[in-house]
Amino acid sequence: MSDPYGWQHLRLMQQDPDRFFRELHRDQGDIARFVLGTDTCWSFAHPHALQQILTTHWRQFQKTTRFREVVSRALGAGLLLAEGAGWQRQRQAVQPVLNQAAAPTSPDVLSNGWQTRLDRWSAVNRIDLDEELRAGWMEQWLWQLTGLDPTPCVAPLRQSLRGVQSALLRQLFQVFLPPRWWPWWGRRDERQALRTFRRLTRELWEQALPGSRYHHLRQTLTTHGTSATAGLDEARTLLFNGYETTTCGLLWTLWHLARHPSWQDRVVTEIADQCHSQGPRDSTLLSACWHEALRLHPPAYLLSREVCERVEIAGRSLSAGDQVFLFLPLPHRDPRAFESPDEFRPERFLHPAAHPTAAGGWLPFGQGPRGCAGEAWAGQICQQLLLPLLRQHRLTVCEETPEPRPQFGFALAPAAPVWVARAPR
Ligand code: HEM
Repeated sequence: MSDPYGWQHLRLMQQDPDRFFRELHRDQGDIARFVLGTDTCWSFAHPHALQQILTTHWRQFQKTTRFREVVSRALGAGLLLAEGAGWQRQRQAVQPVLNQAAAPTSPDVLSNGWQTRLDRWSAVNRIDLDEELRAGWMEQWLWQLTGLDPTPCVAPLRQSLRGVQSALLRQLFQVFLPPRWWPWWGRRDERQALRTFRRLTRELWEQALPGSRYHHLRQTLTTHGTSATAGLDEARTLLFNGYETTTCGLLWTLWHLARHPSWQDRVVTEIADQCHSQGPRDSTLLSACWHEALRLHPPAYLLSREVCERVEIAGRSLSAGDQVFLFLPLPHRDPRAFESPDEFRPERFLHPAAHPTAAGGWLPFGQGPRGCAGEAWAGQICQQLLLPLLRQHRLTVCEETPEPRPQFGFALAPAAPVWVARAPR
């Protein structure tokens, strides 16, 4: 059936992006072109082209109009959606707050909830990783951002985030989007979820305690002359951006470690050796496992851009208004960049000289000036949460649990609960 406007593409891209992009590139090679409505769209799979788009020629691209229209309903004009000189100023103000050492101090963080959760695990021999990490990480995340007792907020915030994510995802792929002033956009439960998300995030931002990241952020933004509304947009952006992506990153890392318990043993031995010689430090081996898990399952799996002025990429001429898609599982599992690309081999990331990130083939955090502002923080979180967990528990896959099927939703998450067996270490 003829489909000159590519509505089939839109449907497939939403329902099964993995199949859509793989078939596109199987038929057209590293550079694929297709139509969506009246837009010309491109998908690039070669790391060199991705590097050109995200780093060399980044100024010729911006976040897509659709992405900004849809996501701004939840996040306002925070860092994720800003463009131009305004974005540069925001990034300069926010980045130092995200890079600073953990606050509140990590022992407090652990004693307050995470350690209690890990202790509770000692009473059971099977863990639902998905549920435990979603709840546990939300507690930790709110605590790190605000310094407040997160307990009363965890459940309503998780529920409202689910509603907001599903509304945004649906609208990103909707053929016709109602205008911003239209008061009845989305379903009733989605509008309710958005209201709850915006109310809770405003309360958290306003009540954040001294020493918390939000408190530092507020002080920094005030010295930069940022308005109160813009500060709240930034706070919402950080909470939203850091939650689902990090949950999925932690979850996939633990899943791969459960399938490869010898890597857990190596991490625990490395940390024990370090404690004897120099006191506790971050684990290089765990960091390699984190990198490898994010390669196999990049949580933010699809990056999109709109061309703002004519530009040449990999020998193709792209015009203003063209839409560009970068589906990360393609470069991440490209056999030209990674030997045995479907296998979990953290040792790839142990030797800096052969580090594949240098060749641009590894980009779960994006790349270039618009790359993830929280990359370093996310790496710290992985160490803070997973090291005590691995020191206390040994995880293995259960016979009855099949390999989790990835669901390409708002982030790349497992489609069903992920049960693993637990034993004391
Ligand atoms: C495993 C965890 C994470 C992953 C995989 C991830 C991934 C990404 C990616 C791919 C982008 C770039 C999007 C694009 O180019 O279109 C991005 C941007 C961003 N991320 Fe993350 N992220 C993670 C954790 C975090 C955390 C913990 C925070 C917050 C504290 C955060 C804050 C941001 C912000 C503010 C941006 C927008 C930066 C800008 O446009 O200037 N992320 N993230």
